[in-house]
Amino acid sequence: MTREPLYFVEIGSGEPVVLLHGFPLDGRMWEMQAKELSRSARVIVPDLSGFGRSGAMVAASLDEMADDVAALLDSLGARQATIIGLSMGGYVSMAFARRHLERVARLGLCDTRAVPDSAEGKKVRDTNIALVDAQGSGAVLERMLPMLLSPEASLEIREFVRAMGRSQVPSGVKAALAAMRDRPDARPWLATFDVPAMVVVGSEDRIAPPSEAEEMVAALPHAELALIPGAGHLANLEAPAAFTAHLARLLAMPRG
Ligand code: MLT
Repeated sequence: MTREPLYFVEIGSGEPVVLLHGFPLDGRMWEMQAKELSRSARVIVPDLSGFGRSGAMVAASLDEMADDVAALLDSLGARQATIIGLSMGGYVSMAFARRHLERVARLGLCDTRAVPDSAEGKKVRDTNIALVDAQGSGAVLERMLPMLLSPEASLEIREFVRAMGRSQVPSGVKAALAAMRDRPDARPWLATFDVPAMVVVGSEDRIAPPSEAEEMVAALPHAELALIPGAGHLANLEAPAAFTAHLARLLAMPRG
């Protein structure tokens, strides 16, 4: 069945770079990185299916989300791109690499996890799905907020994340929770991602901790670790300059 095209923002020209957002957010979380990287690249920022202005779409799986991104690149005439994703966007990036490796110039895996949800983690997804049904998307955002940001995050960032999370349509949030719950173990695939890669992580990330980032770097054939001191899970918002500088370094690597 043909799917709707994803909503996206495109800025700059040059080599294509795709920025994939985390949960329960949308492409707006990449505003600062998109602006900076667009000085020397063609930055493409989609709203993944179920989120933002792609909110009317529903993805059955992270693989389907990854294929939506591949279809978007087709429609833009971009054969290859640097694929960068944060957290859920990282899960989608790994699914993209698994399904379309020849289209990946470089890989940026930020504050994300290769391990699947534990049994306990899957239960939390189900609780959150029920919470969306009972109280809407905002309730899940409030529950997650202490994990998404470090205690040092400014009130401005907190409110930015809160407003974006609350604006998501319940059907999209629920579909993504189920897709993340059911995602496969990506660890066996990491060794096959034979492209330049960077694993970026905030030192205070409690969802995707630095210890897991180190394991990913060890398993990837050509990866560097970029640790951002003091930043929490949404490291791109908490430490935008350091985060963007790491991505710029990734983009300077010869493509795979
Ligand atoms: C995200 O930031 O995308 C989510 O926290 C990922 C997750 O819940 O596994």
